[in-house]
Amino acid sequence: KKRVFSGIQPTGNIHLGNYLGAIRNWVETQDQYDNIFCIVDLHAITLPIDPKELHANVRKLAALYLACGLDLKSCKLFVQSQVHQHAELDWILNCFTPMGWLNRMTQFKTKAGSEMDTVGAGLYCYPVLMACDILLYQTHYVPVGDDQRQHVELTRDLAQRFNNIYNKSIFTLPEAQIRDAGARIMSLEDPTKKMSKSDPNPSAYITLLDDPKMIKKKIARATTDSERVVAFDPARPGITNLLSIYQILTGQSQQEIEADFEGKGYGDFKAALTDRLVETLSPIQQRYNEIINDMAALENLLKQGADDVRPIAERTVQKVKKAVGLG
Ligand code: TYM
Repeated sequence: KKRVFSGIQPTGNIHLGNYLGAIRNWVETQDQYDNIFCIVDLHAITLPIDPKELHANVRKLAALYLACGLDLKSCKLFVQSQVHQHAELDWILNCFTPMGWLNRMTQFKTKAGSEMDTVGAGLYCYPVLMACDILLYQTHYVPVGDDQRQHVELTRDLAQRFNNIYNKSIFTLPEAQIRDAGARIMSLEDPTKKMSKSDPNPSAYITLLDDPKMIKKKIARATTDSERVVAFDPARPGITNLLSIYQILTGQSQQEIEADFEGKGYGDFKAALTDRLVETLSPIQQRYNEIINDMAALENLLKQGADDVRPIAERTVQKVKKAVGLG
């Protein structure tokens, strides 16, 4: 089976974008692949984060992975910092990464913003660590949302460059797996921006743990426009974003959905969307509560996951060190 690897940062609230752009797709195809899913806590310290919060977030995210339907029979789950090979390969790969390539990364510019001179260097080198995550496991496919496309392309370029310098067979060249639907869920407040965990305004996103009342409130106040027709239309990004979410959740075609809401208003549509969201998230929340209440079992399973993947990572590190002349 081909190897799949992906990860999420344990920062902020895991939201509908993370679910529809990533986790849901991992669950759907887990039987077809040999899967490794990571909780990337080393990435989470590239911006300031409270230690207690980080510690709790790692466990919450692990519980969510399972609650969303990842099955340990076909997936390995682990925490990045528990496998030291990530940090080890990171240093080596940093030395082979042209500054110019990192200068082109758009996410760094967005995240650093006006604080370019004061943010930690880790934020700048972030994509190299992500490349290490992927390359350590000789990954074929990386299922992610659209915002990670550039990082996976960089990973591929780095792998190719390294293979060309040393030996063609050191790294497998990975490919991003990005679906048409759900790869870019937009903010509910400003539908020209993507839905983001770090949005200061919680009304901009729906978290996987929002209760029905909260979901209803957030959908009700989601930005739309002054038109009345419920239809997919690039010129109306608000309603189109909500319709896209509805489309993924129901599996209906655009035509079917537009036909169902013909003659009805935004209010009717928003009520239907709220129902679908509650229907999707309630069972996830129920499972989440069970899992998070057995912390010992959760910690155990993460330790097991790290023990399982470490030898795979170590094999790659050994190949790399040998090629470079280290050790
Ligand atoms: P992160 O934690 O920001 O996001 C996790 C996943 O959710 C997707 N995503 C979205 N999809 C659709 N619409 C949105 N609004 C939306 N927001 C986020 C992301 O594309 C991602 O798939 N650098 C990565 C984490 C990472 C990683 C890796 C991923 C570290 N190492 C190795 C894959 C492989 C990140 O910050 O994702």
